[in-house]
Amino acid sequence: MRARIEPGGTVRGDVHVPGDKSIAHRWLILAATASGSSRIVGLPTSLDVRSTAACLALLVPGARPSLEAWLVDARSGDQHHGFTWDTDTGGDDRSALEVEAEGRGGLRAPGSDLDCGNSGTTMRLLAGVVAGAPFRTVLRGDASLTRRPMERVAEPLRRMGAVAETDDGRPPLVIQGGALRGIRCEMPVPSAQVKSCVLLAGLAASGETIVEEAARTRDHTERALLALGAPIAIGERDVEVSAFQHQGFEGKIPGDVSSAAFLAAAAVLTGGSLTIRGVGLNPTRLGFLGVMARMGIRTEQEVLEERLGEPVGDLSVGPGAGLTGTGVGEGELPLVIDEVPVLAALAAHADGETRFAGAQELREKESDRLRGLAEQIQGLGGLARVEGEDLVVAGGGLAGGNADALGDHRMAMAMTVAALGARGPSEVGGMESAVVSYPGFVEVLAGLGARFGG
Ligand code: S3P
Repeated sequence: MRARIEPGGTVRGDVHVPGDKSIAHRWLILAATASGSSRIVGLPTSLDVRSTAACLALLVPGARPSLEAWLVDARSGDQHHGFTWDTDTGGDDRSALEVEAEGRGGLRAPGSDLDCGNSGTTMRLLAGVVAGAPFRTVLRGDASLTRRPMERVAEPLRRMGAVAETDDGRPPLVIQGGALRGIRCEMPVPSAQVKSCVLLAGLAASGETIVEEAARTRDHTERALLALGAPIAIGERDVEVSAFQHQGFEGKIPGDVSSAAFLAAAAVLTGGSLTIRGVGLNPTRLGFLGVMARMGIRTEQEVLEERLGEPVGDLSVGPGAGLTGTGVGEGELPLVIDEVPVLAALAAHADGETRFAGAQELREKESDRLRGLAEQIQGLGGLARVEGEDLVVAGGGLAGGNADALGDHRMAMAMTVAALGARGPSEVGGMESAVVSYPGFVEVLAGLGARFGG
């Protein structure tokens, strides 16, 4: 699917975004492994979250009927925009999932391989869950996921006592679970997925499990375990957890701030202003606001409530007075990792150069975003290049042109947003990828004032 993007529209208004994908994976897993009943409202129907639900349906027979019913509902949203693309409510009771589960003891050997689709979070987090269960699980993914590194989870799980095999470091990831022991895991690459995998395995292990990270990453798993009453100690750079079986819970998933970032950037690049309501405002996800501030973008955030251990509120972006290029250092990168595409889209329109330094981890995402961003910005008539492991975006604006999503949801959305600020029309191919995290993205933007050709 190609999107034709026309200049001249202005993105403004008040909007809700779908539930946070990262948070949703965790609470889905926790619902299916809880002892007792849980109810989750506001689950996003994005493909990645559906992958986690579908895998859990195979792993937890007791939770299968409700997970399958939710999946049917989620799929029906593909045709009925009101369910998936409800920008007024950001997901309401129609997307509620009610699960009755029997704790980790309710996990059973799946009758077939688990298809994690495009979702690295599904594969890495579920690996941690099945490592403590006495059966063999094969975790597979699509072509993009199959080229992503899995040794980073296999290695600690092996040390904990599971058998974990990869295909030369890549999926399929085959795990024979069993009794686990706690370990100290010093993560060489900062990764919230690896941290979460080890912490989830730690819930089933004897003794303490300690994860140390060289740079801070998103802390949704720590917050979830804390909210559920797990014995967890959270330090500046380390987390310690011991064995724990959580009970059922109720809660509503906050809006996805990574999705909000694309809409906010669209408002900035079209001279509009936007308020995104009910969005997750976890500081470990807001690194991009600091980068945007250095570029000259004014944002405001107000925390109004706490949901599932996460701060939630409103995020507003106002009209700015021009963008300036900036530098994003290696140390800052883990906290803006998913926002590099949208920041690069902004940088293409800035005065002066923006350098994302030491950004090699971008090669390991849903596509090689280091190379992809440079090439696709060039396709839209801009100047960008890879220098060693740095992404350098020259700034100065875009003429308009052609870009491709490269099968990557965030590339699809970033290039669309970049094109909205271009001088001439553009086309972005592969827009269907956006459904991985934001079904209805183009329709929502159009509803807010962006102009798309037929
Ligand atoms: C995620 C962690 C990040 C991020 C991904 C979601 C998570 O990956 O890029 O989109 O939910 O824990 P890494 O942990 O591999 O950096």
